[in-house]
Amino acid sequence: MSQTPTRSDFDRYMTPNYSPQQVIPVRGEGSRLWDQQGREFIDFAGGIAVNSLGHCHPVLVNALKAQADKLWHLSNVYTNEPALKLARALVERTFADKVFMCSSGGEANEAALKLARRWAVEHHGEHKDKIISFSHSFHGRTFFTVSVGGQPKYSQGFGPVPGGILHATYNDLDSVRALVGDDTCAIMVEPMQGEGGIVPATQEFLQGLRELCDRHQALLIFDEVQTGVGRCGHLYAYQHYGVTPDILTSAKSLGGGFPVGAMLTRDAIADSLAVGTHGSTYGGNALASAVALAAIEHIDTPEVLEGVKKRHELFREHLETINRKHGVFQEIRGMGLLIGAQMAPQYAGQAKDILPLAIDEGLMALIAGPNVLRMAPSLVIPEADIEEGMARLERAIATLVAKA
Ligand SMILES: Cc1ncc(COP(=O)(O)O)c(C=O)c1O
Repeated sequence: MSQTPTRSDFDRYMTPNYSPQQVIPVRGEGSRLWDQQGREFIDFAGGIAVNSLGHCHPVLVNALKAQADKLWHLSNVYTNEPALKLARALVERTFADKVFMCSSGGEANEAALKLARRWAVEHHGEHKDKIISFSHSFHGRTFFTVSVGGQPKYSQGFGPVPGGILHATYNDLDSVRALVGDDTCAIMVEPMQGEGGIVPATQEFLQGLRELCDRHQALLIFDEVQTGVGRCGHLYAYQHYGVTPDILTSAKSLGGGFPVGAMLTRDAIADSLAVGTHGSTYGGNALASAVALAAIEHIDTPEVLEGVKKRHELFREHLETINRKHGVFQEIRGMGLLIGAQMAPQYAGQAKDILPLAIDEGLMALIAGPNVLRMAPSLVIPEADIEEGMARLERAIATLVAKA
């Protein structure tokens, strides 16, 4: 007889690299979740910017169910209709000519970095191998991507780190100018740093990176794993800035909760991924592609994208109202529905303390580093859920303030 799992089973059976909250949600609908005891929660976390249409959105459920009865998986020895449709949908909506499919953001970035190195070797020679990225950036957990990422704690303690990686300061073009040269193969950047604290790039910064890449024949890689697929109010954040990368990576919201990732690029660069150079067993999986296609077609509409901008304003207004009463935040920032509230100096390091207090009030939220409370809800979260979620957040913050 199988027993109902409990939170202590996590400690007993799962590797200790996470420390999940005590509640175990068992069901979700829209922006609400229910745990094993039937307690209801409002979801401002969105599976860390993944559940782009909330939980069990009928458009995604129907796409999954329809594909589940037809075909799940073939490997890359064969292609399949959903993968071809998804690739076409991405190409038609972006700067890209070609798509490499995979199952996560880290995998998409790994592909981007390998492609950049390969392209540079083929077109310019072995010397052009330097990759510039930024401190506090996050690009995934494969060994290459943690090394390119700007948080050394994630790459230390695993033996020798891959070479040829340099870190500049985000939003500081001079720090990039000091590192860039003709040996630069690529610059990898998030248009808005997510894990690093919800820090949007300035217009001049991204434009400057584009110019430096052009001058030094280096590739500009935008990691849009967190910012992409409607999250910032455009299909991709590069469209907001009007700065076009050479390679773009996408995941998270792309699958709306189904694991899928994609790397997009132009023909002249894609050519360096000749047969056999790279691959992924699950890349272009038929179920994943069918769900991602449904997500993208639903999200890339004026109704949803304008709705994201409108909801951004609502989130901001509520957070400012909370702050006028309690004075816990120093700054509220972000784009679309990726929003960060930086803690005021007297609450430094306490963003994480809000999470269990919010759970007690029936709200799921996130942090981005020790000082930033982060929200990445469904792109179609109902206004009533925003109101109610903010009322719960205010109670959690009142408790934090009372404890201080
Ligand atoms: C900007 C960015 N890149 C890459 C990743 C890694 O994605 P995944 O966890 O799907 O490998 C993340 C995850 O948080 C991210 O925010």
